[in-house]
This record gives sequence, C-alpha cells and structure tokens, in this order.
Amino acid sequence: MEKKEPKITRKEPYKVHLEENKKYFWCSCGESQNSPFCDGSHAGTKFLPLLYTPPKSEDYYLCGCKITLTQTLCDGTHSKL
Ligand code: FES
Repeated sequence: MEKKEPKITRKEPYKVHLEENKKYFWCSCGESQNSPFCDGSHAGTKFLPLLYTPPKSEDYYLCGCKITLTQTLCDGTHSKL
C-alpha cells in the first residue's frame, strides 16, 4: 500500500547555505539519504521533489519534518509534532 504521508526525517529544519538563482530540489518524501535534498528515493511513490530557487545567497532553514505548509522552507509546523 502506498504511503499517504511523508516520512518525518527530523523534527527540526536544516540550516543550509544556498546560492542565489541556483536550482535545489527539496525532498518531500522524507526518504532521501541526502536530506533536505532529493536523492531519488521517492521513485515509485506519489511524492516528487520540489524545486526551490533562492532569491539571494544566504542561509536558509529548509523543512526537515516534511509537513511544512510553505513547502521547502520551515514554517514552524514541526513544533506541533
Ligand atoms: S522542520 Fe518542518 S516546519 Fe519546521
């Protein structure tokens, strides 16, 4: 049976430095071994990575719980888990 919910990788965001206008693929399934980035582990599931292109080069907090409502960036939802 196919999973309906993503796997919670961890209940806090990943602080990562991202470069302006570079394309990053955020793992939405929670199975990636390279979280918070996609490593292709979603193959065969309903989940797909989400493209994120930072507006400027700086540190970002990418969601690790996969439940964020703003998809890719942490919105604090992990604090309710
Ligand atoms: S880590 Fe997912 S909302 Fe913060």
